Amino acid sequence: MVKKYVFGNPFETDAVTAKIEISEQTGGIGCGSISTENGFCFRYQMDRDDVIYGLGEANRGINKRGYQYISKCSDDPNHTEEKTSLYGAHNFIVISGKQNVGLFFDYPSNLTFDIGYTKQDLLTVSCERADLYLYVITGESAYDVTKQFRKIIGKSYIAPKYAFGFGQSRWGYKTAEDISNVVKGYRDNQIPIDMVYLDIDYMQDYKDFTVNPERFPDFPKFVQGMKDQEIHLIPIIDAGVKIEDGYDIYEEGVEKGYFCKREDGSDFVAAVWPGWTHFPDVLNPAAREWFGSKYEVLTDLGIDGFWNDMNEPAIFYSEEGIQEVNKAIAAYAKELEGKGSEQVAGDDEGEDIMNNANALPGEVRSKMEQLQNNPEDYKRFYHNVNGKMVRHDLVHNLYGFNMTRAAGEALQKIAPDRKMLLFSRSSYIGMHRYGGIWTGDNQSWWSHILLNLKMMPSLNMCGFVYTGSDLGGFGSNATRDLVLRWLALGVFTPLMRNHAALGTREQECYQFENIEDFRHVIGVRYRLIPYLYSEFLKAVNNDDLYFRPLGFDYPDDRRAIETEDQLMLGKELMITPVYTQNVSGRTVYLPEEMKFIKFMPDGSIYEEIMDKGTHYIEVALNEVPLFIRKGKCIPVVDVAQSVAQIDMGTVQYLGYDGASYELVEE
Ligand code: GLC
Repeated sequence: MVKKYVFGNPFETDAVTAKIEISEQTGGIGCGSISTENGFCFRYQMDRDDVIYGLGEANRGINKRGYQYISKCSDDPNHTEEKTSLYGAHNFIVISGKQNVGLFFDYPSNLTFDIGYTKQDLLTVSCERADLYLYVITGESAYDVTKQFRKIIGKSYIAPKYAFGFGQSRWGYKTAEDISNVVKGYRDNQIPIDMVYLDIDYMQDYKDFTVNPERFPDFPKFVQGMKDQEIHLIPIIDAGVKIEDGYDIYEEGVEKGYFCKREDGSDFVAAVWPGWTHFPDVLNPAAREWFGSKYEVLTDLGIDGFWNDMNEPAIFYSEEGIQEVNKAIAAYAKELEGKGSEQVAGDDEGEDIMNNANALPGEVRSKMEQLQNNPEDYKRFYHNVNGKMVRHDLVHNLYGFNMTRAAGEALQKIAPDRKMLLFSRSSYIGMHRYGGIWTGDNQSWWSHILLNLKMMPSLNMCGFVYTGSDLGGFGSNATRDLVLRWLALGVFTPLMRNHAALGTREQECYQFENIEDFRHVIGVRYRLIPYLYSEFLKAVNNDDLYFRPLGFDYPDDRRAIETEDQLMLGKELMITPVYTQNVSGRTVYLPEEMKFIKFMPDGSIYEEIMDKGTHYIEVALNEVPLFIRKGKCIPVVDVAQSVAQIDMGTVQYLGYDGASYELVEE
């Protein structure tokens, strides 16, 4: 059962699509207590055994207990354990224990979930203004509650089948030749691949919806040539529109008043990759439609997929921020003047100050450090929402959602019969109807393989089914073993993309020794695509989860509930990736009898029935493990070099004798 409560004057976020009557709050909301005296605060006394699920793209475990999380879409590439905010804001949690209650706080600004952080057994959810909708969902299990939630937020985005292929990306591919070399590296080594991503360097001076003509002399022909090799090129689109006379998108946006504005009505200016930019006001329906229509510039050139980036929106610095630094420097200069010239000029100290930022006084340094993604900047611009100016910080978490909605709505019009790949970095619940997400800038760290795994079911709970992480890690230098182990998890994530940052060690699969191991691991993905895509479609069509925590399927098994390094996938599988270095296997927990499967490097398949309980499984770097649930089977096909080449004539069934599988196709 779903109940909707209203507090104050909420902003309409469009997260929920179901029409639900508002319930009276006589006698509370049936769960915890609420105060609206000093902002909004929900309080709930947790039982010792309660598990708290949800929060989508968030740090730490599947059970969110024992830490605090702040919904605040943040451009922060350092996902260390203490971080409280990542790129998405997904305000749905499930309290699972004696009762199972789902709570969705539909509030588009900063919202703090203190889940036993301040006090071990106390859950509080609080925000500054008591203006929100609160949805309270009761059901018989955490799984049931989650499915009810998924139903009210509307059907998740369906990615095209080709988007279940493998993709290679790197920030640093600049020219058509660079891209061709990547494709050659894969095709020559017979490592299957379907997508190569175009990071910011394909653009002319980082201008959205442009292509650098020197780097790509005949872009449509190039796109077609790639298609002929069964490669989809997926360009990045950034939120900021470069300020440059003669650039049509900038000029049109200014003329129509479609950029975010300062209080005085002037267009807000922020620096991102292109230098000074304006942000399209994607919360204004007319501006959203306008920005979305620009994607046609690239679809007209043959492009059929996009990734939307920097849409928290990320701000390197603003004009106001620079002015403040300048003011602090001027004040410092004045102070030095006052101290007399002998102390500053003419001796070494003066030069030191100029050359060494650390020598700058605290005031100047702190202003400089505050430049990037400064909360003050988010108070400096406004959205025009149906004629009303709304200050950005009050609706901050909706920007990435609406940028991707702009694209999603437009692509439906541009090509109504064709599915396009679309995913975003920043998001809010509601965006899941328009596109998927990737989990942003992770690092080539073993701990981030595990973080990737743990985020997947939480994201599914919040509607984001087409999702994945930068395999091999974005920042830092990757090693061969790390990439292989991470790919063996990526085999199962809907988005399977290897992506790395500029300046890091090259981590395309053909850069390492024994390429056959990479060929094999990615080959396994292609053998599984009919099954994985079928389970993806079933999950989306039934408001169900593709990835689930073990506790969703085995709610009475405490050991299963506490197992956070294995996941249920679809109705048939349990996955148990290896995520530590220098090991030849791992310990797994089986909540019931299952069949252990290993895809061996020689193409054979190892099968062994294992009893309920704890086992140590050996998994070499070049093997892909999975478990098939008792009485189930899955289809597998022969390896293909691209999704289009998958031959259903080669299908065989793997698992328990006598089982059958219903394959759902597009
Ligand atoms: C951001 C993105 C990353 C991309 C880079 C350059 O950091 O998250 O994926 O490679 O910008 O565009």
